[in-house]
This record gives sequence, C-alpha cells and structure tokens, in this order.
Amino acid sequence: MSQRYYIVGNWKMNGMRAALSEARAIDRAAQRLPKVEVAIAPPVTLIAAMRESSTGIGVGAQNCHHAEKGAHTGDLSAPMLREAGADFVIVGHSERRADHHETNEQVKAKAEAAQAVDMGVILCVGESEAERDSGEAEEVVARQLAASLPETAQRLSVAYEPIWAIGTGRVPQVSDVAAMHKRLRAVLTDKYAEEGADVRILYGGSVKGENAEELLAVAEVGGALVGGASLTADGFVPIIAAAA
Ligand code: G3P
Repeated sequence: MSQRYYIVGNWKMNGMRAALSEARAIDRAAQRLPKVEVAIAPPVTLIAAMRESSTGIGVGAQNCHHAEKGAHTGDLSAPMLREAGADFVIVGHSERRADHHETNEQVKAKAEAAQAVDMGVILCVGESEAERDSGEAEEVVARQLAASLPETAQRLSVAYEPIWAIGTGRVPQVSDVAAMHKRLRAVLTDKYAEEGADVRILYGGSVKGENAEELLAVAEVGGALVGGASLTADGFVPIIAAAA
C-alpha cells in the first residue's frame, strides 16, 4: 500500500484537561515520524484545546448526529464538531451500536453528514464473539459494512474491530485479520470500484506496542484504531513507531 499508515487514538470517555500533556507528547513524537499519519479522537470537551496545542496530529470526534441542526437535545452535528476543530469523526463504533442502538442506516447517515462538511470518516465494523465462534464472522461483518457505507468514498476509512478483542488484551489470529480485511476490501471495491482500493482499512482491538508491528504487517491493514494504549504517550508512541 502506497499510503501512509493511519494510526488513530480513540480516547472514548477518558481525558480531562490534564491529559492534554499526553496529547502534546504524542504530537511531538508524531512530528518526528512523518511517514505515519497520526490522529486522536478525544472527548468533545477537549477537541478545541487539543486542536490549538497540537500541530502534527489530526483531531477528531467519536460520534456526530446525522442532522445538521435541530431539536436533538444533547447531540452535536458534524458542522459543529468541524467548527470546534475536529477534522474527522468516528462513526459506528460497537460501543455506540450497543449503548445507543445505532443501526447501519444511522451510521451511514452520520458518515454522509460528516462528508458533507468535508470531514474524514472512520467507519467501524466488527463481529461478536458468538459470531466469530459460529464461523460467520466474515459474512456478518461484510454485510454490516455494505449496509453502513456512505454513497461516496470521500475521505473514508474503515476500522475492523472484533468486539471481543476490544479492551480485552485478546487479538485475532493474524490469518483471521488477513481474511477479514481481504473480504472488506472486496466490499469496498464492489461499492466504489477503483476508489474502493484506496480506502484504508484499520485494525482495532487491543493494539499495543508489542503487537503493532505484526498486525500492521498484515496485507490490507492500513493502520490501527487504538483505545486504551492511546491514552498516554508511553502507550501510543511505540505503536506509531511500529508504523514508521
Ligand atoms: O476504537 C478503539 C477500540 O475500540 C479498541 O480499544 O482499548 O482494545 O485498544 P482497545
């Protein structure tokens, strides 16, 4: 793959202002490793401050509403997040699909809302442990992706995150990652023809400094979406370095 690896930290509901010092340390390291594209999606409360204090990394949001504005108490639209300093948004994370019952149709609408204001999109998909055990993981995730994809591939990345690997320290066999990413690539080229070949497919789920190199070496893995290990420079920088 000719594109740079894309290494993204998803801070989830973690990070008070004090955590900005970690982001600054990550930013400094990222500037020394220009072959890697690095980004962090902090809680919304930190987006503007992180944007101001970091120059070498992308700053993004973890969700957006599909509407531009309106009567949606507590929600934030893509234009608002963009104005606050986010240049991409994660959509369809399994925690949101589970906690907020987000459907594939809603995920698609969110992705399109972000694209409409020229934000990057990281669209997450992944199977449950039961689906993996039953041998249906590839089928299930391919269907989930096909139903969640926006109509264009504009600034789109996909993240394959097996739900059972998130925050558990467990990662799939390298051969299973390879097979899944190959399958997802086929879904992308079916939908977008040659443009589908350029959509980066990130792997997410218990990525650490120790396993990053092996996971990033898998065919069709274009980067990583990292949770716990992205919260500190000590955890995240080795992953960025593995991609350099
Ligand atoms: O979005 C990233 C995430 O779900 C993976 O989390 O903590 O297993 O790296 P973690």
